[in-house]
Amino acid sequence: MESKFDEKLFAGKEPLTIFRRWFEEAKKTEINDPDAIALATVDEEGLPNVRMVLLRIIEDDGFVFFTNYGSKKAKEAFLSNKVAFNLHWKSLRRQIRVRGYVEKEDGKIADKYFSERQIGSKTAAWASKQSETLANREELIERWQAYKNDFKENVARPDFWGGIRIKPIQIEFWADGQYRLHDRFVWERRFGEKVWGVRRLYP
Ligand SMILES: Cc1cc2nc3c(=O)[nH]c(=O)nc-3n(C[C@H](O)[C@H](O)[C@H](O)COP(=O)(O)O)c2cc1C
Repeated sequence: MESKFDEKLFAGKEPLTIFRRWFEEAKKTEINDPDAIALATVDEEGLPNVRMVLLRIIEDDGFVFFTNYGSKKAKEAFLSNKVAFNLHWKSLRRQIRVRGYVEKEDGKIADKYFSERQIGSKTAAWASKQSETLANREELIERWQAYKNDFKENVARPDFWGGIRIKPIQIEFWADGQYRLHDRFVWERRFGEKVWGVRRLYP
């Protein structure tokens, strides 16, 4: 049987290099939001929760997304200090799964990211009590207008909004194969370790 396995696709000395290479490809092929990840957390009872967020920063050894620190996702992420996320690029028929530990970004990256946003998005961050009950849309729009009027031009980053960094301990690369004989490689290490091990998995 003809094999579709492309060794170069999975080649790399460590997984972040492969991650970045796949991500660059996805930016060219996905119709929108190639950085959209399904982020999983668990609540205090161990019940999983998943939602999309945008993976805005890929660092040498970590990933950062931005959110409201009072939101459900942030509270749950910091409850266990652990999250997982999944990326599925339909255009490439590839998946990346990541598991790891979280830490609050110290604010430098969030300040830069926030400063580059449109004024409407900046004031929206102030106006949204993310994940809390909202009586009606008017209430949200009124809060947003009020912040726009108060701030006028210079909108500071709210201290309840910022980055969460994911420090990975497991990264799995998956590529579609004929007859569902897909290719999977998982990179693993223990928390605090720099060096990764890699092994191939049955599909
Ligand atoms: C494609 C997409 C991207 C999103 N990106 C973000 C994001 O970067 N940060 C964020 O807080 N919410 C983002 N959201 C909204 C979240 O999915 C979610 O509705 C919101 O953060 C509240 O989740 P929570 O109540 O679990 O905290 C995004 C939604 C979609 C569909």
